[in-house]
Amino acid sequence: MAATDLRGRDFLTIMDFDREELETILETAFDLKRKFIRGEPHELLKGKTLFMFFYNRSLRTRNSFEAGMTQLGGHAHYLEPEAVYTPALPGEEKAYATERIADVARVLAEMGHGIAIRIYGKPTGWVYGKGRLVLQEFARWARIPVINMEDDVDHPCQALADIMTIMEKCGTDLRGKRFVMSWAYSGSVEKPLAVPQGAIMIASYFGLDITLAHPKGFDLDPNILNFVKRNTKKYGGSFKIVYDMDEAFKDADIVYPKSWTCQPTDGKTPLDVEKAKALFEANRHWITTVEKMKLTNDAIYMHCLPADRGMEVTDEVIDGPNSVIIEQAGNRLHAQKGLMALIM
Ligand code: CP
Repeated sequence: MAATDLRGRDFLTIMDFDREELETILETAFDLKRKFIRGEPHELLKGKTLFMFFYNRSLRTRNSFEAGMTQLGGHAHYLEPEAVYTPALPGEEKAYATERIADVARVLAEMGHGIAIRIYGKPTGWVYGKGRLVLQEFARWARIPVINMEDDVDHPCQALADIMTIMEKCGTDLRGKRFVMSWAYSGSVEKPLAVPQGAIMIASYFGLDITLAHPKGFDLDPNILNFVKRNTKKYGGSFKIVYDMDEAFKDADIVYPKSWTCQPTDGKTPLDVEKAKALFEANRHWITTVEKMKLTNDAIYMHCLPADRGMEVTDEVIDGPNSVIIEQAGNRLHAQKGLMALIM
């Protein structure tokens, strides 16, 4: 394991970390997973508190953080922004909030050891990047680590669990393995870009040959795409974008098909829901079926969940032998414990 001191660091985006640091987090996560399975105590955060703000719903993230803090000997507080004093961005206090982030962050830092936040989509008017601004403002004022539980740009804790799962299924040396991050149809257009962006970013540290597949109009943030290109040059592997699901699936070792919205990423223009609906409906055929899986190299099927069955994927595939979705969700617990044990 790398000799890296991560104590006190924020975890807002995968981009802020290098491969050595990510390997340190993952090695700790694997170690804590082994201890969890064996029933060995590992109270590395005894008496410590994590404050969690959820502006959006959650099953996996909330429960993996709460259970994780308990298992590490600490405690997590679930805070609904509307039930406390809703923190606001500077200049937006009157719009939807009652207390400045500067004050909330500093007060909580007096009482605990970490602040975790989920914010994307509706609470920020579906303007790309506004959720990230909330996290950055918390990080600016809190002298304790701030953790991104999914904003509109990245879902870095999901990405850690994704790469853990890939390593468990395909081995830790991922060079030459073909990883496909694909768009998939959904009946709902309110899907942030965070998961696919986090997944291709983390894949770009580990030598994978990455294919991003989506219909025209579903482009991801160019900053993220450039980061992935630069990273594959630095760490090995490759990156390409295709506009055909079958082409992407051919000979893939890992497929991760999920829906995301078609959203401007300029940080100003909100999502046009009606335009998005029309574009989604024109691409209903982007569904993962047994026939599509047959094009792959017996690939594992991944999804962060919740999945839109019958739209993103058929039951046969998501419940089939190549699906790793439950282990992937379970790895949220271990990945976040590894992270929290090192930074908090
Ligand atoms: N994958 C994920 O973040 O799930 P939740 O929305 O249930 O937290």
